[in-house]
Amino acid sequence: MKRLERNAPCWCGSGKKYKVCHAAFDDRLIMFSDRLIPVPDHDIIKTPKDVEGMKRSAVINMAVLDYVSEHIRAGISTAEIDDWVVKITKEMGGHCAPLGYEGYPRSVCTSVNDVVCHGIPDEKEILKDGDIINVDVSTYFEGYFSDSSRMFMIGEVSPEARSLVENVKKCVEIGIENVKPWTTLGDMASKINEFATSCGYEIVREIGGHGIGLEFHEDPFVSYVTRPGEEMLMVPGLCFTIEPMVNAGKHDIYTDRDNGWTVRTKDGSLSAQWEVQLVVTEDGCELICW
Ligand code: MF3
Ligand code: CO
Repeated sequence: MKRLERNAPCWCGSGKKYKVCHAAFDDRLIMFSDRLIPVPDHDIIKTPKDVEGMKRSAVINMAVLDYVSEHIRAGISTAEIDDWVVKITKEMGGHCAPLGYEGYPRSVCTSVNDVVCHGIPDEKEILKDGDIINVDVSTYFEGYFSDSSRMFMIGEVSPEARSLVENVKKCVEIGIENVKPWTTLGDMASKINEFATSCGYEIVREIGGHGIGLEFHEDPFVSYVTRPGEEMLMVPGLCFTIEPMVNAGKHDIYTDRDNGWTVRTKDGSLSAQWEVQLVVTEDGCELICW
């Protein structure tokens, strides 16, 4: 980390002198870094202006998900969900972040039943009574990204499916409660994993949450299978998603060979995921998008 001269303008862009702005913050970062705990680079720490920008993007993202929740039902195709997402996002002046992202072919991810994530909307995929589906929406608006996903239950679902959906929502709530500055991502993640395990579930290891803001995916990678004290230090201004992918069976997954995207559970068990985007504050976190 490059230390600034005490009277220099702070690296955060506040216009204040470093010594009255982030100098003490940097002292604390160095203390943790000396104990070999990974600390965030300055360039992923968000300013209040960045947080406002992400919130404006999130207004669109959440309006899209609200629309989906009001219209989703048995008999529609997942391609229709894609159409809704495109329509609402465009009307509100945003852009769908998934479209073209690393070659992704559609504007939203729709992951049904044993699909863990990155389900591609398809005219031929018709929702039916008893399905559970994750709709993962990501928006770009005036320089800032937002990202959140919700589960929907179609008609009457099995008690096991309902419990999975509700318990995974609880996993995210536990994560949110355990975001505390100057503790690590592993401290938070281990609480989620503890609860998921107590329900008899397993959390996917290879895919997780991510930093977000000026890019769709930034540092850090947010795993939910790490231990207390491991992984990056959470500090005020760090912005990331909590989005555990939780399988009712084993954690093992595979990627569809034909489309190169769709991830499924190896044992065919159901999988559920909820996603929120947050920023770490002085005493916990503030939700940006859900
Ligand atoms: N929205 C997903 C996330 O939560 C990312 C999807 S990448 C895509 O990180 F290309 F499939 F859209
Ligand atoms: Co995400």
